Amino acid sequence: MTATSVIGLQWGDEAKGKIVDLLTAEHDVVVRYLGGNNAGHTVIFDGETYKLSLLPAGILHSHVVSVIATGVVINPKAFLTELAGIVERRGEVPPERLQISDRAHVIFPYHTAEEAAFEKARGGDAIGTTMRGIGTCYRDKAGRTHAIRMGDLTHPDRLRRRLEEVVPQKNRAIASLDDEFTPFSVDEIFEEYCGYADQLRPYVTDTTAFLHRSINEGRRLLFEGAQGCLLDIDHGTFPYVTSSNSSGCGIHSGSGVSERVINRMIGIVKAYTTRVGGGPFPTELDNEIGQHIREVGREYGTVTGRPRRCGWFDAVATGYGARLSGVDCIAVMLVDVLDGLDEIQVCEAYDFNGVRTTDFPSHVEDLAQMKPIYRTLPGWKTDITGIRKRADLPENAMRYVDTISELVGYPVEIISVGPDRAQTILD
Ligand code: GDP
Ligand code: IMO
Ligand code: MG
Repeated sequence: MTATSVIGLQWGDEAKGKIVDLLTAEHDVVVRYLGGNNAGHTVIFDGETYKLSLLPAGILHSHVVSVIATGVVINPKAFLTELAGIVERRGEVPPERLQISDRAHVIFPYHTAEEAAFEKARGGDAIGTTMRGIGTCYRDKAGRTHAIRMGDLTHPDRLRRRLEEVVPQKNRAIASLDDEFTPFSVDEIFEEYCGYADQLRPYVTDTTAFLHRSINEGRRLLFEGAQGCLLDIDHGTFPYVTSSNSSGCGIHSGSGVSERVINRMIGIVKAYTTRVGGGPFPTELDNEIGQHIREVGREYGTVTGRPRRCGWFDAVATGYGARLSGVDCIAVMLVDVLDGLDEIQVCEAYDFNGVRTTDFPSHVEDLAQMKPIYRTLPGWKTDITGIRKRADLPENAMRYVDTISELVGYPVEIISVGPDRAQTILD
């Protein structure tokens, strides 16, 4: 039994895509199990850049079956556009190589309209979502009465019946929040989504049954996490989170596969911290060092293009994410981004009203009060992007990685020194 999972331990964008791509060579099935087109995973090899959002990174490898499992929320238009882009660059993707769960929930235009109205109503305290209708679709999933699943979409009679129930209610709800709102038409949505359904039908299947069969047949599964532990709806920095279980807790519910089959759980961490959207961020660097990290690390969102907020590595937050997910080891990414710095700080604990703590707080009001207690380490001031072996890393770079390992509490198995697949230290 070989199954691996790749989980972001911070606030997303830890470079999960790069590690999933790297590990795909030794797996047969790659599974996306949560989130939707709020994710942006960049994969670079042979000088080619691929930006994946809803499709698992496995799609770039022809030996692999890519699965979009039950916990994902699917915008059919975004899916088809992304797939067309991949087909253009990498050739046809037959349905045997790409499966979408018939239990996955579908994003409709009213989800984005509702989200825009909700975010506007919060004003300066907006969550800062990606505006892709992710949270409002998950809200309907939990609420049940307005939910429409992929298996409904692919049956026109079921879709029509559901839209006739849901759309008039959505129109009334959104009109009460937004005076300038133009109501949605059942006929227009039905026609548009029937067109998508015709193209999607070959890919839609019972992915849970497929995954269970795959395990019995000895196929090697790779679970591709999206977002990160601190964005988890239950365990993250609520309400500045995404609307699903983006820590390791979500693998089982999102895929229908017990996490007991996973024998290697890899936590992905950035050598510093970034965050997109609102919410407290104790180690944020709102200064020229933060700006330096943003420029060198090209820290601008893949999905929305927003500048990512940058700060020092936070071992309290990351250690919490690692324990939550139950990782076996960690991969430290983007270490090269720190190449030019004289000194580097790592947050090893928080000061909460004069008391030292390494517990991550339950409430953002408390997180906002946490003052980082830093350990200062010397920089290495050397370009490490060409290094391929641990033994060749500058002493101070290795010391920095070892400090992350010590403070987070897990061994470091992978060190990444550049965006390309080849720029990875595995030994
Ligand atoms: P994901 O959402 O976790 O897959 O991460 P993203 O793809 O959104 O963001 C990570 C970014 O860092 C991407 O632009 C990657 O190409 C890039 N990247 C990955 N690893 C490294 C690295 O070791 N060094 C540098 N400089 N960039 C990296
Ligand atoms: P990947 O998979 C970073 C953030 C948004 C916002 C919050 C809620 O690339 O790591 P949502 O649209 O999900 O309701 O937004 O979550 N967010 C991410 N931040 N990386 C991501 O994905 C994210 N997906 C959502 O910026 O703060
Ligand atoms: Mg990303």
